[in-house]
Amino acid sequence: MTSVEHLQKLRLRAVALAESLPAPAQTMSHHADLSPLLWHVGHMLYIEQHWLLERVGGLSLPAEQGYLFRADGMPRRLRSRFVPPLDVLKGAIASWSADMPSLLAQHAAHALLQDGYLVHFLVQHHSQHIEIMQQILLAYAVQHAAPYHPETALTPRPVATVGISRPTGFATMGADLPRAYDNERPAHQISLSAFRIGLQPVCNAAYLTFILDGGYQNRRWWTSESWQWQRNLGVTAPLGWRQDPDGHWYAVGPGGPHDLQGEAAVQGVSAYEAAAFARYAGWRLPTEQEWECAAREGQLEGIGGAWEWCASTFHPYGGFRAFPYRGYSMPWFDGMHRTLRGHSPYTDPSLRRPTFRNFYTPEKRHVFAGLRLCIDG
Ligand code: AVJ
Ligand code: FE
Repeated sequence: MTSVEHLQKLRLRAVALAESLPAPAQTMSHHADLSPLLWHVGHMLYIEQHWLLERVGGLSLPAEQGYLFRADGMPRRLRSRFVPPLDVLKGAIASWSADMPSLLAQHAAHALLQDGYLVHFLVQHHSQHIEIMQQILLAYAVQHAAPYHPETALTPRPVATVGISRPTGFATMGADLPRAYDNERPAHQISLSAFRIGLQPVCNAAYLTFILDGGYQNRRWWTSESWQWQRNLGVTAPLGWRQDPDGHWYAVGPGGPHDLQGEAAVQGVSAYEAAAFARYAGWRLPTEQEWECAAREGQLEGIGGAWEWCASTFHPYGGFRAFPYRGYSMPWFDGMHRTLRGHSPYTDPSLRRPTFRNFYTPEKRHVFAGLRLCIDG
């Protein structure tokens, strides 16, 4: 599959995900942090046209289009009133995808098009929005799921303490690959103190032990900030976790209710819950340096069951240069965002690499995130 074919596949995937909900729900907002499904379809198309027509081609798109579809444009809560109908978006995608190859050929000498950079950049961009659309489907399912009876109820299991030891020494972080995001660059050496990191991410069965052990009611495992957060919101389990009338646990995911597999990575927890669990287990969250070092040296299993919250705040590496635009990373180096590593089951292969850095504020629970444990020495 060429990158241009990959891009088309992602556009059609976005349309299919939007069509998986009833028409009125495609235009509605289902979560305060998330735009309507159809906004994402329009945003993906707008971003392609912005880069290829405006940035590369030197043309100007109508200002209203930019205002509606730029992430820093119209406030999110207003977007549902202005998103175009699905048929209009589908027509626009069809004509744009027919026009694109000749535009790429016409501008083949442009710096951003060398080695397929721009199309691959768009592939990675769209892949992130496809995952966000899955977050929207999750929010919708959490609000609309019918009662469910699991076939196999989740049973608790003690926290696994199988860890991989890594001695004190140097490690390589980051990537200079042309397709790496600006926040992954530059590649650099760091020194790391000895640590031990979980071979596998924390699983559902271990997380249930924490719940049944009163983890959410025990002030000891929480900081003042995270305790206040969970008390205010009444958080007592990962997002989407439920019990049937017999007390059996199951979960609601983007596709609706399903059984919880004991060995599968827990997902649907905030960084607050992840840190509380780690403290309860007598461990801590890894820094993103520890995580990347272990992943690059080939020691981690179970990557991809869920994004993994790290203890690190999202900061630029020394020598950071914003590229190809300021807005991808720069606004989020605000001291409020935490890094997440690995990927989730909803992440496109174009984003699956040990240097990729995801970032969210620590209270977010809808981002398919769990954790892996770590400890000094
Ligand atoms: C890296 C997933 C936090 O959702 O805003 C999409 C990705 N950036 N379009 C986000 C992104 C621009 C970004 N995250
Ligand atoms: Fe975007």
